[in-house]
Amino acid sequence: MIARLALIVLCAAAAAARAEIPDITRNVVYQKTGNGYRLQLVEAPMPAPAAGQVLVRMRAVALNRGEIENLAPGGRDRSGMIAASDGAGIVVALGAAAKEFKVGDRVTSMYFNDYPDYPPKPGNLRDAVGSSTNGVFGEYVVLDETALVRIPSGWSDVDAATLPTAGLTAWSAVMIQGRAAPKKIVLVQGTGGVSTFALQIAHAAGATVIVTSSSDEKLGRARALGATHTINYRTTPAWGKKVAELTGGHGADLVVEVGGLGTLQQSLEAVALGGTISIVGGITGYGGELSALGVLDKAAHVVGILVGSRNQLKDLQAFMTRNKVKPVVDRVYSLGEYGAAVEQLRSGQFVGKIVVTL
Ligand SMILES: NC(=O)c1ccc[n+]([C@@H]2O[C@H](COP(=O)([O-])OP(=O)(O)OC[C@H]3O[C@@H](n4cnc5c(N)ncnc54)[C@H](OP(=O)(O)O)[C@@H]3O)[C@@H](O)[C@H]2O)c1
Repeated sequence: MIARLALIVLCAAAAAARAEIPDITRNVVYQKTGNGYRLQLVEAPMPAPAAGQVLVRMRAVALNRGEIENLAPGGRDRSGMIAASDGAGIVVALGAAAKEFKVGDRVTSMYFNDYPDYPPKPGNLRDAVGSSTNGVFGEYVVLDETALVRIPSGWSDVDAATLPTAGLTAWSAVMIQGRAAPKKIVLVQGTGGVSTFALQIAHAAGATVIVTSSSDEKLGRARALGATHTINYRTTPAWGKKVAELTGGHGADLVVEVGGLGTLQQSLEAVALGGTISIVGGITGYGGELSALGVLDKAAHVVGILVGSRNQLKDLQAFMTRNKVKPVVDRVYSLGEYGAAVEQLRSGQFVGKIVVTL
């Protein structure tokens, strides 16, 4: 009898949550222009979750450089695709056979749709939320259960939304491949999303952190977040040598390489003998050369970083909670201000993350 009553109450709660769902939702989608894409806010019919999927009422979406890179012409056709990879919200409806989540669960998205654990297996890296399949930049979005992780209690939607791509990529670069630890020296390039997480994670792990930036003001922020040394890469373009100077000739045990074309040579200059370069991004362009002889002469490890798995995101959530590391959110916009949020991201005038609430 009690079990039946509980079931009725549960069904009633689920039905109530479902009843509040409107017929129309709003999404920010890619629209083709003469030269690539632009992002546009559009209305759409409410999607229904299919088998193994859930409907999430998104509350916060954190932007990544990838959203800007996806606007460039060429590559796959993204017309009409919902943008953005990183969101946090609440489950409001379940598709058939959805078994891991229930209505009312607070969740964040994952960058990869189905990547449970590292190392990746064939197929794990095939579908990327907001890059090759519909993303999370909508009031209500349907996601596969495999693309979701629970938000730990005590985390706000805004903070939780910043982790799935930028935070997890930094975690993979700094801890999984970089093995940051006390007495290790970690070099972080710039003060954007991935790099600010890398600084915070490396600092929390006890490493000495060196940060480069185009701006002395941002370097001040980096020092406040735990950087021991800072270098302005505009006024010190040969910053690789400067890293050697600052470290008594040792260099950086780990370089978190986000710059690409314009920074690879300096990264090789900066890395210590036997050190690691975690290749993450291509802010100044993908391409460029990392001399094989140069790598060999340093007995260096060079490793590619590709975000991370669901289990690694849970590890990162636990690490940040345990070490009281709070994401750095530069500015929060409303959905109607999404254009201004994207423009701020494009401008580079920020430290950490830019978030849109829905
Ligand atoms: N492999 C992966 O899994 C993965 C995951 C996420 C992102 N990414 C890639 O990693 C890169 C960073 O992404 P993000 O989201 O962190 O970008 P972001 O938040 O937009 O940060 C960009 C920052 O890069 C810095 N920067 C610009 N030019 C630089 C230069 N010449 N040298 C050093 N720093 C420079 C700037 O910092 P200052 O203003 O301080 O100079 C800028 O704020 C992008 O290419 C992105 O696509 C890869």
